[in-house]
Amino acid sequence: MDRMKENVVWHEHPVDKSIRSFMKKQRPCLLWFTGLSGSGKSTIAGAVESKLAERLQHTYLMDGDNVRHGLCGDLAFSEEDRNENIRRVGEVANLMVDSGLIVLTAFISPFKVNREVVRGMLKEGEFIEVFIDTPISECEKRDPKGLYKKARAGEIKDFTGIDSPYEAPENAEIVIKNIDVSIDDAANEVIEYLDTRGYLK
Ligand code: PPS
Repeated sequence: MDRMKENVVWHEHPVDKSIRSFMKKQRPCLLWFTGLSGSGKSTIAGAVESKLAERLQHTYLMDGDNVRHGLCGDLAFSEEDRNENIRRVGEVANLMVDSGLIVLTAFISPFKVNREVVRGMLKEGEFIEVFIDTPISECEKRDPKGLYKKARAGEIKDFTGIDSPYEAPENAEIVIKNIDVSIDDAANEVIEYLDTRGYLK
């Protein structure tokens, strides 16, 4: 057994996830948005959260750029730091799902193994991978923060898609080809997935 956990015993509390989600009138889950920088993850996740808020669902959106100002402010973009970034985010998202929330995360999360570890933390049907499938040529054309330009000029190292890999999901629950699709239509695809599978009550 892990020596750190040797004398630490799990404690069950009387109020559990099923009671919390019953009070919130929803089936908690984690919508895990993954895709290249500039693919539209944060924008689409934000639009989905707005639609859920209109329907009085209880949500929380964690976004890569924001989380890296606090919880993960000590991490950079090496493989090791990205692993730790996603490990922390997965743990926090898991707690939020346990609180009965519909959680949305928008992280590049380039490594398949990290995404699968988070999937494994949750119960069947709670982890919904949303692949924002935007070709790198399109992301680079948009370049909303000028980061691709800097990466091409060698001013940023380990940039995803340039000199750091992105492993595209092979079995994502939802795939959005974010090219010639409006943000509203993309968000509606996610809402329809939740609606038809009984996540929203
Ligand atoms: S990861 O790979 O999941 O740990 O990354 P994430 O926490 O989502 O952070 C991605 C945002 O950080 C900015 N940024 C970089 N992205 C990729 N590679 C490098 N080297 C890099 N440096 C800074 C960038 O704004 C990403 O935001 P998005 O929203 O994805 O464009």
